[in-house]
Formats: sequence, structure tokens, C-alpha cells
Amino acid sequence: MTKKGRVFSGARPTGRQHLGNYLGAIKNYVALQADYDCVYCIVDLHALTTVEDTVNLKQNIFEMALDWLAAGIDPQKSIMFVQSMVPEVTELHTILSMVTPLGKLTDLPTFKEKARENPNNINYGLVGYPVLMAADIVLYKSNAVPVGVDQAPHLEFTREVVRSFNYRYNCNVLIEPQMKVTEVPKVLGIDGVQKMGKSLDNHIEIAGTPEETQKRVMMMVTDPARIKRTDPGNPDVCNVFSMHKIFSPKADVEMINIECRRAGIGCVDCKKLYAKSLNESLASFRAKRAEFADKPAEVWAILHDGAQRAKVIAAQTMREVRDAIGLPNLGE
Ligand code: TRP
Repeated sequence: MTKKGRVFSGARPTGRQHLGNYLGAIKNYVALQADYDCVYCIVDLHALTTVEDTVNLKQNIFEMALDWLAAGIDPQKSIMFVQSMVPEVTELHTILSMVTPLGKLTDLPTFKEKARENPNNINYGLVGYPVLMAADIVLYKSNAVPVGVDQAPHLEFTREVVRSFNYRYNCNVLIEPQMKVTEVPKVLGIDGVQKMGKSLDNHIEIAGTPEETQKRVMMMVTDPARIKRTDPGNPDVCNVFSMHKIFSPKADVEMINIECRRAGIGCVDCKKLYAKSLNESLASFRAKRAEFADKPAEVWAILHDGAQRAKVIAAQTMREVRDAIGLPNLGE
């Protein structure tokens, strides 16, 4: 059953997913299933480092699971689970923290950024965020980790921790994972300037209704130099055109590429066309999602089953880790 090796990736439970999540991660998760044993984790413990209000946490986990399943993550082929349901990761986090110099964590650009964003909640867990991520990756003996470039420092950190652990305990129990950079277009928000993100409220949800989707698409900023309908536009700098290239039929893309430049088509019509293509592209995903949403018990059962399968791998790794260190095992 082992293919090219094991892929592991995690994402924080941010609830309903948007186009940035879809094009930047989920689509790739689905594709990797053909060649790898995949483990996909909803990292709820990581979410606690910055989320104080947890009333929506379970719902957000559920909504994200719906998006993953409907997009094509196949729970028969892959393991899909919730991080905190396999608590071995916290034990490994503690153990890895002993081979982690504190300065390395506080120097990470990702830490500095999070600390700037959450100045009143710079907690111990936030500093240790990459250690928990390293624990995720090595607990499941992962060979490759698909992530965006922003996560490169965390992957490099993970590799260093693995080397430190194996060196300190004179073993080769932990595997150094490869980073698999996801080649994706940068997905901008409807403002056309910043990266798409829920916190910026510039996102378009993949599970929205066609009407909601169209409403958000009509808010998209196009070529800022095109002010009047009669002004020619430049598709090369237009966020709507980049999305047409992904979601629209080739003929439409070619037509817009010509007509926009000579003011033959206006931004309003161009956006209507994009909304139509997007809604058509997402129609079967949305239908599947609605089916899963109608059967919440089944969705939770998938996550529970995933956690059980993940736990088998985790327990084996922890036995090896404990043996390598020389920790006594209960019952031995
Ligand atoms: N740090 C990742 C992010 O912010 C989420 C994450 C947690 C992760 N554990 C992981 C990603 C393990 C890849 C592998 O997006």
C-alpha cells in the first residue's frame, strides 16, 4: 500500500474554506492521493495558540472537513483526522522541545509576525508552535510535506530538530521530511492587492451559493487604471483575468484578453462571466458538500476512524522514540 512514501499536511480549522485555501492547498492534497499515502490533519491544537474564543471550534472543524471531503479527499485512501484526537503528538512535542534551542524559535519570522499580530497573547504555546508542527510531521513518519513557501522556515526547523534528536540519542528513529512546495498562483483577495484571507474579509468561499459568489465577485477590484467603461484595460494586471485563466473556458479567456484591451468588454460583464464560470466549476463540489452536510454523524465517524488509524502509526513511533531515549515503558 506504500506508494512513493507518506505525505503529511496540516491546516488550522478556519471553518468554511475559500478559493485561496482551495487553489493553494486542498486541490493539491487531492492530487497527491494518487501517488502517496496521505495523512491530512486539522490542527486544532495549533489553532489554540492564537484563538481564544473556542465556541466555534468544533463547527469550524466540521465545516473544514466537509470542504475537504467534498473536494475529493478520499477517507478510504487517505487518513483525515483531528490533531487533538491523537494526543501522542503532545508527548512528542515535549520531547522535541528538549532538543530545541529557544533562540531558534524566537528568531523565526513566523513567530515574530504572530507576536506582532497578537501582542497581548504571546503565550508559551505560540513560541512552541513549530515544535508542535515538527511533532505532527515526524510522529507520522512523513517523507514529504506539501506547504506554501511561507512555511519553509518551519520545515527547515523540523529537519534540524530531527537531526538533533537522532544525534542526541544516537539513533535514526525520526525521518527528515522533504518540503514539497506547492506551485500555485498567488490568490489575491477581492481587493486585488492582498493575499486572500478570511481575517481580511477579502475572500470568496468555495461553498457559497451562486448568488453569494456572484455578489463577492462583483466586488472584485480590476485593473485600477481602467476608470471609465470606455478606457482600455490591461488583463495582465487584473485579478479577475487571472481567475478567468483558472476557471473559464479557453474561448472566454481569449475573448477577454482581446476585448478588454480595446474596451470591447467592460469590467461588469467580465466579472459576471467569471462568476458564471466559477459557479459552474464548483457546482458538483457544492452538491457533494450538501450531501455530507446532511449526514454529520457520518462525517464525524470518518474523522474518528482517521484518528484511530493515525493512532496506530503514532503509537509505534512513540515506542521507538521512548526506546531510543531510554524512557521506561509502562508494563515492561
Ligand atoms: N503551520 C501550518 C500553517 O500555519 C499548519 C500545520 C500544522 C502544518 N502542522 C503541520 C502544515 C504539519 C504541514 C505539516 O499553515
